[in-house]
Amino acid sequence: MAKEHNYIFETHENNRELQRLRLVESAFDSASETRLRAAGICRGAACLEIGAGAGSIPRWMGDRVGPSGLIFGVDLNTTYLSDLNRPPWTVIEGDFLDANISTRFDLVHIRYVLIHNVKPNAILSSVLKTLRPGGCLIIEEPDFTVAQAGGSGHRAEIDRTHRAISRMFESMGLSPDFAASLPSRLRDLGFLVDRVEIDRHFGPGGSQVAKVMAASTDALRERYIATGEATQNDLDTPSGRQEIRCTFYANTHATRPHRHSHNDVRHNHRHSSTSIG
Ligand SMILES: C[S@@+](CC[C@H](N)C(=O)[O-])C[C@H]1O[C@@H](n2cnc3c(N)ncnc32)[C@H](O)[C@@H]1O
Repeated sequence: MAKEHNYIFETHENNRELQRLRLVESAFDSASETRLRAAGICRGAACLEIGAGAGSIPRWMGDRVGPSGLIFGVDLNTTYLSDLNRPPWTVIEGDFLDANISTRFDLVHIRYVLIHNVKPNAILSSVLKTLRPGGCLIIEEPDFTVAQAGGSGHRAEIDRTHRAISRMFESMGLSPDFAASLPSRLRDLGFLVDRVEIDRHFGPGGSQVAKVMAASTDALRERYIATGEATQNDLDTPSGRQEIRCTFYANTHATRPHRHSHNDVRHNHRHSSTSIG
């Protein structure tokens, strides 16, 4: 199959990419775990993590589902998942679109992955098929177009950096505001959208989210500058790295409907015999 991804961090040197992924995990894991708990992750459940990254979520899921459960982790690069080489884990290296997984899952989790893919609908259609009826999908994706500087210093530099991020995604055929389109996309594809939550990160300099943004800037500095929106100086301004930043995440909880009318779906879903959903 033709390569459908052109992942921007693909060429980032491994140790530095691992550090960046660990920052992503420390910024977002606790909220993700709360969502996965609320979705009812339990002993014996079958779960899929698409874009498993450095693996903290599949590791955490494995502890929840226990030896009778299943955790599949798929990533273009599985270098950081080498410890997940025993049940309940199965790690698959490659593009999820090529993975051809026949297992049916109770729960699928995707975080910070679809924004990097030019064919997110193809991924979501494939997810719909891998979910058992009533199974649950949790997606956490950013919208960079509404990121803005907070605080008083160097707002112009920070805002130019944010514009550079958006232009970079657009120049690659990707949508910097991907998260905003998620609920309608999911509905159009046949999911039942149960809930959409918005996280607006508003943190002082040195917050975990600010550290993620700074690590991404270090990795993608030339690409940001190539957009013509931001200068070297903008990217290096101490405020850009340390002061308040806002980013915006839409978190969507959706389910694969049972084959009934809309109302019946909700009814059946609530009375599903498994704990997930
Ligand atoms: C920004 S990282 C996020 C990692 C992890 N989901 C997290 O939030 O900690 C995106 C990850 O998705 C993977 N990825 C992107 N597109 C993918 C695809 N089509 N199939 C499998 N993995 C993909 C990348 O290799 C990378 O590890």
